[in-house]
Amino acid sequence: ALRGSFVPKAQKANRKSQYGLQPVASYKVAILGAAGGIGQPLALLIKMSPLVSALNLYDIANVKGVAADLSHCNTPSQVQDFTGASELGNCLKGVNVVVIPAGVPRKPGMTRDDLFNINANIMKTLVEAVADNCPDAFIHIISNPVNSTVPIAAEVLKQKGVYDPKKLFGVTTLDVVRANTFVAQKKNLKLIDVDVPVVGGHAGITILPLLSKTKPSVNFTNEEVEQLTVRIQNAGTEVVEAKAGAGSATLSMAYAAARFVESSLRALDGDGGVYECSFVQSDLTDLPFFASRIKLGRKGIEALIPSDLSRLSEYEEKALEALKPELKASIEKGIAFVQKQP
Ligand code: NAD
Ligand code: LMR
Repeated sequence: ALRGSFVPKAQKANRKSQYGLQPVASYKVAILGAAGGIGQPLALLIKMSPLVSALNLYDIANVKGVAADLSHCNTPSQVQDFTGASELGNCLKGVNVVVIPAGVPRKPGMTRDDLFNINANIMKTLVEAVADNCPDAFIHIISNPVNSTVPIAAEVLKQKGVYDPKKLFGVTTLDVVRANTFVAQKKNLKLIDVDVPVVGGHAGITILPLLSKTKPSVNFTNEEVEQLTVRIQNAGTEVVEAKAGAGSATLSMAYAAARFVESSLRALDGDGGVYECSFVQSDLTDLPFFASRIKLGRKGIEALIPSDLSRLSEYEEKALEALKPELKASIEKGIAFVQKQP
């Protein structure tokens, strides 16, 4: 009812061209881990989306205040809070997109894999609830180590008999956002024009920016390729060190996750030209999961984009082979975690 009162009839009729603060679609989004460092700014950005009618915020604590605060913004979506396991099912019912940034972040000196023991259990519990309550939703996994948490989610969904590989996404958008920013800075390009595909996974050397595929086409010296690649691979650590114990990237991550949510909603709404990079089930390499550009549609992934992996530079070719053993081990660790459980 609230939504209706925001939308004059003429604007409803003209929904494609109206992209102001009026709702132009009515998708439901849930954030699990919504009171955290990523969850809060992500909730704010999603609250700004005209494609969202309901925003469900779940956490184990502190989510009531976040929801009360956000609900005063005069944008269309209705915000509701859900706290603790007993409210998780209700949070997820009827949801189109579930975003999961629940779990612990890194401190200086840690790798993403050091988060495995805590975050693997959190992921398993949350994805079981997703399987039970909104098995058709797009699932966006942010919690680290993404290279393992996505395979964990896949195994849980398989056990529940509802796995749709076209709808499970590891969120690697931040790697693309960083690559675009750093390349634009280094080559003095207009930010809005720059697009660098980033493939592989989301940790250290498994993050492989394909600088040779940068759009618009740019020439890099070997030294620039080396410097940019290493900076993009270590950008998460750059933030962890700057925050000096207070966590990892939250604001840039929220920005990146909001972009991926918006792309997913546009795809669900029938937009035909939505492309993003994401860590997904894949047959582009011999690994079962791999980040690459994907085309999104109403039913999730419509296509993987194999052309990015052809005609790689020699540097990229070597880096691709070098990342495979680490990525394979992280994927297998995630799968084994679920399969080993009684
Ligand atoms: P944070 O500690 O600030 O927030 C995490 C939130 O998760 C907290 O509010 C906590 O209460 C909640 N939580 C813990 N257990 C939960 C459970 N069982 N159910 C629901 N909520 C639960 O951490 P953050 O900075 O928001 O980071 C969250 C995760 O995102 C970390 O694992 C981090 O490594 C990861 N991350 C990933 C990327 C990426 O590019 N994919 C980028 C940045 C951070
Ligand atoms: C990032 O890339 O910023 C995240 O994966 C968080 C981290 O631990 O680096």
